[in-house]
Amino acid sequence: MTKQEIEGNLLSPLPVVLVGAMVKGRPNYLVIGYISPFDFGKYIFFSLYKNRYTRIGIHENRTFSVNIPTEDLLAETEICGSKSGKSFDKGALFDTFYGELKTAPMIRQCPINMECEVKEILDYDPNDGIIGRVVKSYVTAHYLADGKLDWRKVHPIIWATGGDFNFYKLGPRISQKES
Ligand SMILES: Cc1cc2nc3c(=O)[nH]c(=O)nc-3n(C[C@H](O)[C@H](O)[C@H](O)COP(=O)(O)O)c2cc1C
Repeated sequence: MTKQEIEGNLLSPLPVVLVGAMVKGRPNYLVIGYISPFDFGKYIFFSLYKNRYTRIGIHENRTFSVNIPTEDLLAETEICGSKSGKSFDKGALFDTFYGELKTAPMIRQCPINMECEVKEILDYDPNDGIIGRVVKSYVTAHYLADGKLDWRKVHPIIWATGGDFNFYKLGPRISQKES
């Protein structure tokens, strides 16, 4: 098997998320593809380019939300990943709700939401590395089965790197854990 070197970080595909923050008193959402849970999911780490409008709110309030959009929110997701809150009101695309943190706007239409508090911001110019602690997680009741999240119902939007950069669907479940 011949190996060929290709460009890019190939830890992919991953679900795209909409990160939310309060900027100048309004909720704003952007698409983040470079994101990861760590410390067994207690924290979330993502990469935020420094000129993003959302960054203003994350630095000011030290809070943000992570929302997982579904395939039926593809059009809104594409808007959140291409238009900036500097010149477009992305908060108006969704119904926003708040949990424990009053400055971490979450998207009601997304089945999965997490509110996070910033623990650390790493300077990786021209990006920030944002580390947030997951304060609380929420799921729309419809996506639960026996009190657990049923991913077969969710239909997340999966994003691939490695030069592809397209969106995909999640495939069928191929294992069965004993409960
Ligand atoms: C699939 C996809 C993945 C993206 N991943 C990131 C990312 O990891 N970090 C980032 O700063 N921007 C990322 N972006 C770009 C922002 O979502 C985009 O520039 C957005 O319009 C910024 O909005 P804002 O200025 O309102 O914050 C991504 C966009 C797409 C479509």
